[in-house]
Amino acid sequence: MTEALWTAVDNYIHDALVPSDTALDAAIEASNAAGLPPIQVTPSQGKFLHLLAKIQGARRILEIGTLGGYSTIWLARALPEGGRIVTIEADPRHADIARKNISRAGLDPLVDLRLGRALDVLPELASEGNGAFDFTFIDADKQHIPEYFEFALKLSRRGSVILVDNVVRDGRIVDTKSRDPDIMGIRRFNEILAAEPRVSATAIQTVGAKGYDGFAIVLVTEDI
Ligand code: SAH
Ligand code: DHB
Ligand code: MG
Repeated sequence: MTEALWTAVDNYIHDALVPSDTALDAAIEASNAAGLPPIQVTPSQGKFLHLLAKIQGARRILEIGTLGGYSTIWLARALPEGGRIVTIEADPRHADIARKNISRAGLDPLVDLRLGRALDVLPELASEGNGAFDFTFIDADKQHIPEYFEFALKLSRRGSVILVDNVVRDGRIVDTKSRDPDIMGIRRFNEILAAEPRVSATAIQTVGAKGYDGFAIVLVTEDI
Protein backbone atom coordinates (compact mmCIF):
# COMPACT_ATOMS: atom_id res chain seq x y z
CA MET A 1 0.00 0.00 0.00
CA THR A 2 1.41 3.28 -1.14
CA GLU A 3 1.02 6.98 -0.61
CA ALA A 4 -0.60 7.14 -4.08
CA LEU A 5 -3.41 4.90 -2.86
CA TRP A 6 -3.80 6.88 0.41
CA THR A 7 -4.07 10.04 -1.68
CA ALA A 8 -6.62 8.47 -4.04
CA VAL A 9 -8.76 7.41 -1.09
CA ASP A 10 -8.38 10.84 0.50
CA ASN A 11 -9.55 12.44 -2.75
CA TYR A 12 -12.48 10.01 -2.86
CA ILE A 13 -13.49 10.93 0.71
CA HIS A 14 -13.06 14.60 -0.17
CA ASP A 15 -15.33 14.27 -3.21
CA ALA A 16 -17.91 12.09 -1.48
CA LEU A 17 -18.21 13.73 1.94
CA VAL A 18 -16.41 17.07 2.00
CA PRO A 19 -17.88 19.10 -0.85
CA SER A 20 -15.66 21.72 -2.39
CA ASP A 21 -16.30 25.29 -1.42
CA THR A 22 -15.03 28.53 -2.88
CA ALA A 23 -13.57 30.01 0.31
CA LEU A 24 -11.62 26.87 1.22
CA ASP A 25 -10.39 26.32 -2.35
CA ALA A 26 -9.37 29.98 -2.63
CA ALA A 27 -7.50 29.76 0.68
CA ILE A 28 -5.39 26.87 -0.62
CA GLU A 29 -4.83 28.58 -3.97
CA ALA A 30 -3.77 31.87 -2.38
CA SER A 31 -1.49 30.08 0.08
CA ASN A 32 0.19 28.12 -2.72
CA ALA A 33 0.50 31.22 -4.91
CA ALA A 34 2.23 33.04 -2.04
CA GLY A 35 4.69 30.17 -1.65
CA LEU A 36 3.52 29.05 1.78
CA PRO A 37 4.53 25.46 2.60
CA PRO A 38 1.64 23.12 1.66
CA ILE A 39 1.38 21.61 5.12
CA GLN A 40 -2.17 22.56 6.08
CA VAL A 41 -4.52 19.80 7.15
CA THR A 42 -6.18 17.92 4.29
CA PRO A 43 -9.86 18.60 3.53
CA SER A 44 -10.95 15.42 5.29
CA GLN A 45 -8.84 16.35 8.32
CA GLY A 46 -10.20 19.90 8.24
CA LYS A 47 -13.73 18.57 8.38
CA PHE A 48 -12.66 16.18 11.13
CA LEU A 49 -11.46 19.17 13.20
CA HIS A 50 -14.71 20.97 12.42
CA LEU A 51 -16.79 18.01 13.55
CA LEU A 52 -14.79 17.53 16.74
CA ALA A 53 -15.26 21.20 17.65
CA LYS A 54 -18.99 20.86 16.99
CA ILE A 55 -19.31 17.63 18.96
CA GLN A 56 -17.57 19.47 21.77
CA GLY A 57 -19.97 22.43 21.42
CA ALA A 58 -16.94 24.70 21.47
CA ARG A 59 -17.63 28.42 21.87
CA ARG A 60 -14.01 29.43 22.47
CA ILE A 61 -11.31 27.82 20.33
CA LEU A 62 -7.54 28.27 20.46
CA GLU A 63 -5.28 27.40 17.54
CA ILE A 64 -1.48 27.45 17.70
CA GLY A 65 -0.05 27.64 14.15
CA THR A 66 -2.28 29.43 11.61
CA LEU A 67 -0.27 29.16 8.36
CA GLY A 68 -2.72 30.40 5.66
CA GLY A 69 -5.76 29.95 7.87
CA TYR A 70 -7.11 26.80 6.23
CA SER A 71 -7.68 24.91 9.50
CA THR A 72 -8.78 28.21 11.08
CA ILE A 73 -11.62 28.46 8.56
CA TRP A 74 -12.76 24.90 9.27
CA LEU A 75 -12.69 25.52 13.02
CA ALA A 76 -14.31 28.97 12.88
CA ARG A 77 -17.18 27.47 10.91
CA ALA A 78 -17.87 25.15 13.82
CA LEU A 79 -18.50 28.07 16.19
CA PRO A 80 -21.98 29.02 17.33
CA GLU A 81 -23.29 32.60 17.26
CA GLY A 82 -21.04 34.69 19.50
CA GLY A 83 -18.20 32.16 19.45
CA ARG A 84 -14.57 33.07 18.82
CA ILE A 85 -11.30 31.49 17.73
CA VAL A 86 -7.91 32.86 18.72
CA THR A 87 -5.19 31.71 16.31
CA ILE A 88 -1.46 32.33 16.79
CA GLU A 89 1.07 32.70 13.96
CA ALA A 90 4.72 33.72 14.21
CA ASP A 91 5.42 34.38 10.52
CA PRO A 92 4.04 37.73 9.32
CA ARG A 93 3.90 36.49 5.71
CA HIS A 94 1.74 33.56 6.75
CA ALA A 95 -0.44 35.79 8.94
CA ASP A 96 -0.94 38.19 6.05
CA ILE A 97 -2.21 35.47 3.72
CA ALA A 98 -4.31 33.99 6.54
CA ARG A 99 -6.02 37.34 7.18
CA LYS A 100 -7.01 37.58 3.53
CA ASN A 101 -8.22 33.97 3.40
CA ILE A 102 -10.25 34.36 6.59
CA SER A 103 -11.75 37.62 5.30
CA ARG A 104 -12.71 36.06 2.00
CA ALA A 105 -14.48 33.31 3.94
CA GLY A 106 -16.52 36.00 5.75
CA LEU A 107 -15.13 34.98 9.13
CA ASP A 108 -13.43 38.20 10.29
CA PRO A 109 -15.78 38.73 13.24
CA LEU A 110 -15.08 35.25 14.59
CA VAL A 111 -11.29 35.17 14.28
CA ASP A 112 -8.72 36.86 16.52
CA LEU A 113 -5.36 36.37 14.77
CA ARG A 114 -2.37 37.07 17.02
CA LEU A 115 0.94 37.68 15.29
CA GLY A 116 3.83 36.49 17.41
CA ARG A 117 5.66 33.48 18.72
CA ALA A 118 3.31 31.19 20.58
CA LEU A 119 5.50 31.19 23.68
CA ASP A 120 5.16 34.99 23.81
CA VAL A 121 1.46 35.17 22.95
CA LEU A 122 0.21 32.36 25.21
CA PRO A 123 1.20 34.12 28.46
CA GLU A 124 -0.65 37.22 27.19
CA LEU A 125 -3.77 35.13 26.60
CA ALA A 126 -3.43 33.69 30.08
CA SER A 127 -3.23 37.17 31.63
CA GLU A 128 -6.18 38.52 29.61
CA GLY A 129 -8.47 36.32 31.68
CA ASN A 130 -11.12 35.77 29.02
CA GLY A 131 -12.06 32.37 30.39
CA ALA A 132 -11.19 28.86 29.36
CA PHE A 133 -10.89 27.53 25.83
CA ASP A 134 -13.24 24.65 25.06
CA PHE A 135 -11.10 23.32 22.24
CA THR A 136 -7.41 23.80 21.37
CA PHE A 137 -5.64 22.74 18.17
CA ILE A 138 -1.84 22.59 18.55
CA ASP A 139 -0.18 22.70 15.11
CA ALA A 140 2.93 24.94 15.19
CA ASP A 141 6.58 23.85 15.53
CA LYS A 142 6.80 20.35 16.96
CA GLN A 143 9.74 20.81 19.31
CA HIS A 144 7.68 23.02 21.60
CA ILE A 145 4.57 20.84 21.72
CA PRO A 146 5.17 20.11 25.43
CA GLU A 147 5.21 23.84 26.29
CA TYR A 148 2.17 24.52 24.10
CA PHE A 149 0.34 21.67 25.77
CA GLU A 150 1.14 23.00 29.26
CA PHE A 151 -0.27 26.41 28.28
CA ALA A 152 -3.30 24.87 26.59
CA LEU A 153 -4.00 22.87 29.74
CA LYS A 154 -3.72 26.02 31.88
CA LEU A 155 -6.19 27.73 29.54
CA SER A 156 -8.63 24.80 29.69
CA ARG A 157 -11.45 23.66 31.99
CA ARG A 158 -12.76 20.26 32.93
CA GLY A 159 -14.30 18.96 29.68
CA SER A 160 -12.01 20.88 27.30
CA VAL A 161 -10.44 19.05 24.38
CA ILE A 162 -6.87 19.51 23.14
CA LEU A 163 -5.98 18.11 19.72
CA VAL A 164 -2.34 17.90 18.60
CA ASP A 165 -1.31 17.42 14.96
CA ASN A 166 1.73 15.55 13.61
CA VAL A 167 2.48 13.24 16.50
CA VAL A 168 3.58 10.22 14.41
CA ARG A 169 5.81 11.67 11.67
CA ASP A 170 6.15 8.65 9.37
CA GLY A 171 6.55 6.46 12.43
CA ARG A 172 9.80 8.14 13.44
CA ILE A 173 8.18 8.69 16.83
CA VAL A 174 9.22 5.18 17.96
CA ASP A 175 12.91 5.96 17.40
CA THR A 176 14.05 6.29 21.01
CA LYS A 177 17.50 7.44 19.89
CA SER A 178 16.31 10.21 17.60
CA ARG A 179 18.01 13.57 18.17
CA ASP A 180 15.54 15.30 15.87
CA PRO A 181 14.08 18.14 17.99
CA ASP A 182 10.60 17.51 16.53
CA ILE A 183 10.65 13.82 17.48
CA MET A 184 12.12 14.63 20.89
CA GLY A 185 9.36 17.21 21.40
CA ILE A 186 6.62 14.73 20.60
CA ARG A 187 8.13 12.02 22.79
CA ARG A 188 8.52 14.48 25.68
CA PHE A 189 4.88 15.50 25.17
CA ASN A 190 3.75 11.88 25.47
CA GLU A 191 5.70 11.50 28.71
CA ILE A 192 4.04 14.60 30.13
CA LEU A 193 0.63 13.30 29.05
CA ALA A 194 1.24 9.93 30.63
CA ALA A 195 2.17 11.57 33.94
CA GLU A 196 -0.64 14.16 33.95
CA PRO A 197 -3.50 12.98 36.17
CA ARG A 198 -5.95 15.69 35.01
CA VAL A 199 -6.29 14.36 31.46
CA SER A 200 -7.20 11.27 29.49
CA ALA A 201 -5.51 10.88 26.11
CA THR A 202 -4.76 8.72 23.12
CA ALA A 203 -3.20 9.09 19.68
CA ILE A 204 -4.45 7.90 16.31
CA GLN A 205 -2.24 7.17 13.30
CA THR A 206 -3.41 8.60 9.99
CA VAL A 207 -2.56 8.08 6.32
CA GLY A 208 -3.73 10.22 3.44
CA ALA A 209 -2.74 12.91 0.99
CA LYS A 210 -0.23 14.26 3.55
CA GLY A 211 1.41 10.88 4.08
CA TYR A 212 1.71 9.00 7.36
CA ASP A 213 1.22 10.93 10.58
CA GLY A 214 -1.25 11.18 13.44
CA PHE A 215 -3.28 13.18 15.92
CA ALA A 216 -3.21 13.09 19.71
CA ILE A 217 -6.50 13.83 21.43
CA VAL A 218 -6.67 14.92 25.05
CA LEU A 219 -9.74 15.31 27.24
CA VAL A 220 -9.37 17.39 30.39
CA THR A 221 -11.08 15.29 33.03
CA GLU A 222 -10.43 17.35 36.20
CA ASP A 223 -10.81 20.94 37.30
CA ILE A 224 -7.85 23.09 36.26
N1 SAH B 1 -2.86 24.80 11.22
C1 SAH B 1 -2.47 25.08 9.84
C2 SAH B 1 -1.07 24.59 9.55
C3 SAH B 1 -0.01 25.17 10.46
S1 SAH B 1 1.63 24.88 9.85
C4 SAH B 1 -3.45 24.37 8.93
O1 SAH B 1 -3.64 23.16 9.11
O2 SAH B 1 -4.03 25.00 8.04
C5 SAH B 1 2.57 25.47 11.19
C6 SAH B 1 2.56 26.99 11.35
O3 SAH B 1 3.11 27.28 12.63
C7 SAH B 1 3.41 27.73 10.32
O4 SAH B 1 2.67 28.75 9.70
C8 SAH B 1 4.54 28.34 11.15
O5 SAH B 1 4.96 29.61 10.71
C9 SAH B 1 3.88 28.46 12.52
N2 SAH B 1 4.83 28.50 13.63
C10 SAH B 1 6.03 27.87 13.72
N3 SAH B 1 6.62 28.14 14.88
C11 SAH B 1 5.78 28.97 15.55
C12 SAH B 1 5.82 29.62 16.81
N4 SAH B 1 6.86 29.47 17.63
N5 SAH B 1 4.77 30.38 17.18
C13 SAH B 1 3.71 30.53 16.36
N6 SAH B 1 3.62 29.96 15.15
C14 SAH B 1 4.63 29.20 14.75
C1 DHB C 1 4.99 20.15 9.06
C2 DHB C 1 4.18 20.85 9.92
C3 DHB C 1 2.84 20.50 10.03
O1 DHB C 1 1.99 21.14 10.89
C4 DHB C 1 2.33 19.46 9.28
O2 DHB C 1 1.02 19.15 9.43
C5 DHB C 1 3.15 18.77 8.42
C6 DHB C 1 4.48 19.12 8.30
C7 DHB C 1 6.42 20.51 8.93
O3 DHB C 1 6.83 21.47 9.57
O4 DHB C 1 7.11 19.82 8.19
MG1 MG D 1 0.16 20.05 11.17
